[in-house]
Amino acid sequence: MSEKVIFDADIAPLKDKVVSVIGYGNQGQAQARILRENGVDVIVGNVRDEYWDRALKDGFKVYEIDEAVRRSQVALLLVPDEVAPHVYRKKIEPEIGKKEHFVLDFASGYNIMYGFIRPRPNTDVVLVAPRMIGRGILSLHRQGRGYPVLIGVAQDSSGKAWDYAKAIAKGIGAIGLPGGIAVKSSFEEETLLDLLTEHSWAPLLIAAMQAYFDVVTEEYGASPEAAILELYASGELAEVARAMAEMGLFEQMKLHSRTSQYGQFTRARKFYRMVKEVVREEAAQIWSGEFAREWSLDQAFGRVVLQRLWKIVTSSRLAEAEDRLYRQLGRR
Ligand code: NAI
Repeated sequence: MSEKVIFDADIAPLKDKVVSVIGYGNQGQAQARILRENGVDVIVGNVRDEYWDRALKDGFKVYEIDEAVRRSQVALLLVPDEVAPHVYRKKIEPEIGKKEHFVLDFASGYNIMYGFIRPRPNTDVVLVAPRMIGRGILSLHRQGRGYPVLIGVAQDSSGKAWDYAKAIAKGIGAIGLPGGIAVKSSFEEETLLDLLTEHSWAPLLIAAMQAYFDVVTEEYGASPEAAILELYASGELAEVARAMAEMGLFEQMKLHSRTSQYGQFTRARKFYRMVKEVVREEAAQIWSGEFAREWSLDQAFGRVVLQRLWKIVTSSRLAEAEDRLYRQLGRR
C-alpha cells in the first residue's frame, strides 16, 4: 500500500467473516452499529454489566468475550486501554492462538506500542483509530458523513492486513462518505500523536484557565461568574474550535477583531518559545515509554495519584465557583 491518504475502500474482506466487537462502550456501540448497518455480520463480546444489556437492547447477539472471539474471525478490541491487556491475556489469546490469521483490531496504538499486549505471530494486528468520540461518530453517521481515522498494521500474517484495516475503516463509517479520511500511520505514531495532545495543549489550556481565573478574581476583583463565562461557559471556545476544524487554524483568525488578532499573534510568539521545550520533553517521555511506566505504576497502586489530583481540582475555587454558576444556569 503506497497511498498515504485514503478516501474509500472495499468492505469485501469483512463480508464473509463474523466480526466480534469486544466492549460496547463509547467506541464499541458506535462501531458495532455502523458495521451492522453496512451489512457486516457483527456479534458483541462483553462482561455481564450494563453495557451487555445495552448491546442486547440494540438487538445484538451478546456473548462472553471468549465465546465471541471463538465465534469470529475478526475482533475489534474496544475496552479501555488499561483493562485491555488483562482481557487479552485471559479471554482472547487462548482463543485466537488456535486460529490462523485471526484479525485483531485496535482503536488505539497504546498497548501494542508499549508491549502490554504481544499478539502471537499467526495474528493480523491492525489499527483503525478514530479521531472522534463515539457519540460524534454516530451523529456524523446519521448525517451521512464520515470522519478521520489513522490506520496501521503491526503484524501481517495473512498478507492482507492492510486490506482488513481499510475494510474496517469503511465498515465503521469512517471513509467512503463526505468528510471521511484514513491516514496511513502506525501504532507508534498514533500513540505519540494521541498522548502528545493530552500532554501539551490540553493541560496548557487547563493550566492557563486556572491561572487566568486566579489572577482576575484574586488580584483584580473580577467576579467568578464573569471569568468562567469568558473562559468556557459561554460556548465561545467551542465555536472557535469548530471554526478551526472547518476553516483552518489561521483562516478562522479573520473571524476575530484586529485587536484580538494582534494580541493572539504577538503573545503566541512569546508562548511558543516557552512551550516548545515542554512539548519536546513530553514527546520524549511518550516515545521512550517513561509516561506509560509512570501511569502503569499509578494503576498498580490503585490510581492514588489520579484520585488525589481529582480531589485537588474539584475542591479548587474555580470548581466551586463553576458549580454555583452551573446550578444557576440549570446545567446541573
Ligand atoms: P469505554 O470506557 O467506553 O469501554 C466500555 C466497555 O469496556 C464496556 O463494554 C465495558 O463492559 C468494557 N469493560 C470495562 N472494564 C472491563 C473489564 N475490566 N473487563 C472487560 N470489559 C470491560 O471505552 P472507549 O472509550 O470506547 O475506548 C475503547 C478504545 O477506543 C480504547 O482503545 C480507546 O483508546 C479507543 N478510543 C476511544 C475514543 C472514545 O470515544 N472514548 C476515541 C478514540 C479511540
